[in-house]
Amino acid sequence: MPVIACIDDLKQLYRRRTPKMFYDYAESGSYTEQTFRENTSDFAKIRLRQRVARDLSGRVLETTMIGQKITMPVALAPVGSTGMQSPDGEIKAARAAAKFGVPYTLSTMSICSIEDVAAASPAPFWFQLYVMRDEDFVDAIIERARKAKCSALVLTLDLQILGQRHKDVRNGLSSPPKLTIPNLINIATKPAWAMGMLQTPRRQFRNIVGHVKNVEKLSDLTAWANEQFDPKLDWSKVRRIRDQWGGKFILKGILDPDDARMAADFGADAIVVSNHGGRQLDGAVSSISMLPSIVRAVGDRVEVHVDGGIRSGQDVLKAVAMGAKSTYIGRSYVYGLGAMGEAGVTKALEIIQKELDISMALCGERDVRNLGPHNLLIPKDFEGDWVA
Ligand code: GLV
Repeated sequence: MPVIACIDDLKQLYRRRTPKMFYDYAESGSYTEQTFRENTSDFAKIRLRQRVARDLSGRVLETTMIGQKITMPVALAPVGSTGMQSPDGEIKAARAAAKFGVPYTLSTMSICSIEDVAAASPAPFWFQLYVMRDEDFVDAIIERARKAKCSALVLTLDLQILGQRHKDVRNGLSSPPKLTIPNLINIATKPAWAMGMLQTPRRQFRNIVGHVKNVEKLSDLTAWANEQFDPKLDWSKVRRIRDQWGGKFILKGILDPDDARMAADFGADAIVVSNHGGRQLDGAVSSISMLPSIVRAVGDRVEVHVDGGIRSGQDVLKAVAMGAKSTYIGRSYVYGLGAMGEAGVTKALEIIQKELDISMALCGERDVRNLGPHNLLIPKDFEGDWVA
């Protein structure tokens, strides 16, 4: 068993053990991938202030997200097709998160269904909604999430139309993979993945298949999104969904202070500063570089969360010190999942928790809730000196 010291070690193992098409699906941004790259590289521009001769005993990482107690300021982000990264991947990730004490968010475009995950998860999870043209489907899936006792609805606003990821086009991405010669050759080198997939009945988008009229089979996420996602989603439709749900409500995919103000006026419980992991509008700036202006605009009115580019506890520390109440990881836990299943997700969470704890201590802080801009050295031009 290789030694796992950091998230990148999990990524190397994940790459060896998972079919190329699903590795590429996770490890892509749209178009030139500029935004995808900058989500991580911008974190490296922020520096931490080392402070010494302080009492570092009794450190606290616990905090809350939308009033829910969590063991550290991290949640698992919704990730489409997670059950293709590892057999029953959503169940494994939900279990790892529940045992660790952080929220798990199930994607609409998951392989395991809401019901599959509810039956297997020891704690309530959050459900991420994509709005489809078919209002009956939207109404029904909200009711399914309610019945499964999901404790928050996370409405994604930045993917009503899909940005192209070139590798998915070239690989002919589909779930399950088509049995072409190149796919079969590649899968033959991933025996544990293949055995697990043969042993589970969960190989299709089970939130959709069997729940939408005339959909008995669905393998192409891109084609489905292009045909079915509702391009008319606007604030009035968001209101309808909020009212229908009636519970904790998070708006994901906010990258501009004007949209953040709209979301805050709207009374959302939280917003997620996000560019969808660099998978949508290539050329948009990184999430972390937009976080400060969004916190200035609405930070006293709505809880601000952030995702995009978080690969370490140091990144979590930086995001929280910049004003995010909490963060989401997507790829960081998918690496663990593809490398080692549920144990790999737990490992990813443990790595980040330990890095956060030690780095916070070396910054001279004992409580994650006391982190702030005073812990950071931020380059003067970090937010960009853009023409008005
Ligand atoms: C879906 O959410 C995707 O980014 O592929």
